[in-house]
Amino acid sequence: MNLKVISKATVVNQYLPKKLTAKTTVTAFAPSNIALCKYWGKRDVELNLPLNSSLSISLGHLGSHTRISHSDSGGDVILLNTKEQALDSSFSRKILDFIALFRRTQPLPLIIDTRNNIPTAAGLASSASGFAALMIALNDFFDLQLDKPTLSAFARMGSGSASRSVFSGFVRWDMGEQSDGMDSVASQLDSHWPGFCIGLIKVSSVQKPVDSRSGMARTIKTSNLYASWPAQASADLLSIEAAIKNKNFSDLGQSAEKNALSMHATMMSAWPPLVYWLPESLAVMHKIWQLRSDGIAVYFTMDAGPNLKLLFESSAKKILEIEFPDMEIIQPFGNE
Ligand code: PMV
Repeated sequence: MNLKVISKATVVNQYLPKKLTAKTTVTAFAPSNIALCKYWGKRDVELNLPLNSSLSISLGHLGSHTRISHSDSGGDVILLNTKEQALDSSFSRKILDFIALFRRTQPLPLIIDTRNNIPTAAGLASSASGFAALMIALNDFFDLQLDKPTLSAFARMGSGSASRSVFSGFVRWDMGEQSDGMDSVASQLDSHWPGFCIGLIKVSSVQKPVDSRSGMARTIKTSNLYASWPAQASADLLSIEAAIKNKNFSDLGQSAEKNALSMHATMMSAWPPLVYWLPESLAVMHKIWQLRSDGIAVYFTMDAGPNLKLLFESSAKKILEIEFPDMEIIQPFGNE
């Protein structure tokens, strides 16, 4: 593996015309996604190149709508859910840094209007869908005609998990090995699973104390358990892919839950410890384990935060709606 560090600008620049031409207005949508096999740890922090491949499910119509148009005010305007954001806010800076990769020195003031329809009750991160929608919109606005793998590679530079949000359904992000990361791209699996359900359980809306970028860096640096993670993740990825192919729900649920808990084990063994769980998170886990011992096929996954995402099939929907009345249910492939 070649570990030479290359800048984002150097990589992107090779795919751009010298001078951009721009349309008047474009809009794009990208779905949010939940990883069943998690991405945790970077081998290259500049390009967001991962130390393991990952696999996710996109959340259908839940995600980000992004509109790009010209700004007449002479400066950029950044809107989030219809509210104008200060240009020095961390949200605006991330977007402007990303756009700068494409705009380079060309004076092209823009209005970037992002609207997330992810339910506020869901406790889901919107950076994956946000960067994917922004990348798809930039491609259209500047008529770059980039193919899907390139869109995925560039979205990844905004946020790793955004590489997967360029696609719908089940999506695998291959870690790749090239130093420019152009083989570290996602692709959609040829699989359809009607009745597959994801239940969003929000136990807290408090902003996570340590973001995933810093959390990954701390885990790699200080957790002795992290050494076992890439092998664990690659084994889980194979099991999850096989379970999707065979529509074997219990295999899928087991591997996804084990994968999430293995990731959290590496976080907890970091120093200072990274414990994203709250007492309520653990209470929900115990409830799920109890339901499972009562014969209900329900599993969970968790990201870098206290909220849980339940995995089940539509046959268990009725009972789980009673057990978790506040749960938001998503069926990415519709019903049976
Ligand atoms: O894409 P990021 O930098 O927000 O990291 C995502 C990390 C996890 O959500 C914990 C796992 C994943 O694969 O989505």
